[in-house]
Amino acid sequence: MNKEKIYILAIESSCDDTSAAVLCNSKKLSNVVASQKIHEAYGGVVPELASRAHQQNIVPVVDRALTIANIDKKQLSAIAFTRGPGLLGSLLVGTSFAKSLSLGLNIPLIEVNHMQAHILAHFIEEENMIKPKFPFLAMTISGGHTQLVLVHDHLKMEILGETLDDAVGEAFDKSAKLLGMPYPGGPLVDAHAQKGNPLAFKFPKPKVPGLNFSFSGLKTSILYFIQKQTAANPEFITDNLDDLCASIQYTIVNILMEKLKAAVKQTGIKRIAIGGGVAANSGIRNALEQAEKDLGWVAYIPKFEYCTDNAAMIGIVGYYKFKDREYSGYNIAATARYEIG
Ligand code: KG4
Ligand code: ZN
Repeated sequence: MNKEKIYILAIESSCDDTSAAVLCNSKKLSNVVASQKIHEAYGGVVPELASRAHQQNIVPVVDRALTIANIDKKQLSAIAFTRGPGLLGSLLVGTSFAKSLSLGLNIPLIEVNHMQAHILAHFIEEENMIKPKFPFLAMTISGGHTQLVLVHDHLKMEILGETLDDAVGEAFDKSAKLLGMPYPGGPLVDAHAQKGNPLAFKFPKPKVPGLNFSFSGLKTSILYFIQKQTAANPEFITDNLDDLCASIQYTIVNILMEKLKAAVKQTGIKRIAIGGGVAANSGIRNALEQAEKDLGWVAYIPKFEYCTDNAAMIGIVGYYKFKDREYSGYNIAATARYEIG
């Protein structure tokens, strides 16, 4: 084994992106993502179709990742893969592939928790990127997750709160659907929101104790509100689209910021690291910038490539686990539910 350079091949297949990456220590050499467009027509991810697409994509995606990295399979130190959480049929594809390749190459197999990977994405070495200092608070916000985590060290973290129902990205996407927008509507809501008045309409915020989240009630209240308004004016949505998007985004961002403020109060930690697709949202970015000025927070947002599902973030967990000799046995199985810690 080369002591200086650790080469990790990482595989991610938890939802609808098939991804493979090669890392040399904490540096990314390649990060290939094949996104599945097929789900757009269904307004959400269809698990059966996702597994089938992973089967088709996995070999070419891994091949491409190795080619871009200019690394031969024989140079690899270990294979890291997403064990969960996620869609079981999707996870099975990556898990089986990783096991077979590790067995074939006779190199260690390393299982990775997808949620831990979203957090460690902040540690992929990049120019101009500042890594958060421990301890810090991490908030992972995407179409599949909403989680608030206290991070003590690379591999030591505890969940402070999470969603009890929908993920925040789902709240954006379902609201967008009610407004007649295609899936995934989050980025479209964001674009319209920037032209609208966030105080035009008021939507109730959920009353969830502690640091947990809930977004399903918001969707219902938006639905009733729109039904009532369009009964009086069939053009209500078209006439008010920017203001509706701005008001919905304002409500969602407020929910996230209130929980973050409560977590800062509870822990006394002001370093906040954000990840997941919703980290692209202009509302949350502005709110964090404001909190840096007003409350002395330090906010960290990785490159967008590392916010959305990708294998480089699996690779960085693989790297830290490899250094600790945290290898997996071949009886390891994919798991749809998988808590951090
Ligand atoms: O991390 P991601 O690519 O996939 C997973 O869900 O794991 O996140 C996708 C989610 C979708 O719900 C999408 O609508 C949302 O992130 N999203 C946004 C924005 N960009 C992506 N939501 C609000 N504003 C955005 N700018
Ligand atoms: Zn994810």
